[in-house]
Amino acid sequence: MIQFEHMKKSYGVGADAHEVLHDVDFTIHDGEVFGILGSSGAGKSTLVRTINLLERPTGGRILIDGVDISNATGKELKALRAKIGMIFQNFNLFQQRTVLRNITFPLELAGKPKAQRVARAERLLKLVGLEEYADRYPSQLSGGQQQRVAIARALANEPKIMLCDEATSALDSTTTVQILDLLRRINRELGVTLVVITHSLSVARNICDRVAMIDGGNIVEMGETAELFANPKSDILKALIASAEEQNGRDEDEDGTPVAPAAGAAENEEAR
Ligand SMILES: Nc1ncnc2c1ncn2[C@@H]1O[C@H](COP(=O)(O)OP(=O)(O)OP(=O)(O)O)[C@@H](O)[C@H]1O
Ligand SMILES: [Mg+2]
Repeated sequence: MIQFEHMKKSYGVGADAHEVLHDVDFTIHDGEVFGILGSSGAGKSTLVRTINLLERPTGGRILIDGVDISNATGKELKALRAKIGMIFQNFNLFQQRTVLRNITFPLELAGKPKAQRVARAERLLKLVGLEEYADRYPSQLSGGQQQRVAIARALANEPKIMLCDEATSALDSTTTVQILDLLRRINRELGVTLVVITHSLSVARNICDRVAMIDGGNIVEMGETAELFANPKSDILKALIASAEEQNGRDEDEDGTPVAPAAGAAENEEAR
């Protein structure tokens, strides 16, 4: 369980201080796929990066499983980060390491013996469907394959929580669906809580149990995905839904219109 209690985040100090998250107060439950939706600059990444303290809150608290982590340092911080996996839009793999050695990296940091590291990495490669690719380098993989490696690496320390910052934004729609399927399996089969940042309504619809809409550093609404999208309250979510519908309409005009059969084709068919 991740609890934000009146959490705030400012960047800069003194006269330059600039608050980008204001009074964030909500809970993400164990086993949920929780979506954070909002436009660019809304504060999505900042919010999610406070969960593993890549950004430290400047007010309020964050509790994970009831423990206040807001001021964690040293060993406590290292242990916290080990239990929270993270994946990014641009995969962030180590280019000089093979696929296998990307996945064993967090296990090296955790001081696991080599045989155990390799065995675990091989199991994870199988889970993400890349067992043939252990000795390749990231540059020899497609974007979707690189994201699978990043997912395997994020799972190395058996995290309870995985943070996904625009994990499918650099991928085409078919690959996006495959990666979302993999993430859903990880949620269901391994019980990992997923926090999913996205700009995309269709990604949120596809995978999220609940969604929070964030605008200008405030959570403006939150709810079960289908219910929220059926009854949006905020202008920003209404506008996002309207623009997605307009886009869908355009896509249908371009590729969805059935091609009319050549004149007389049906009659010819019958005549034969
Ligand atoms: N390290 C930083 N120093 C100062 N300001 C920052 C820093 N990181 C983010 N900000 C500011 O905080 C606000 C929220 O940024 P954030 O990256 O969280 O937005 P986002 O919703 O993730 O946007 P995007 O969809 O473009 O990734 C923005 O105004 C941004 O300029
Ligand atoms: Mg961001």
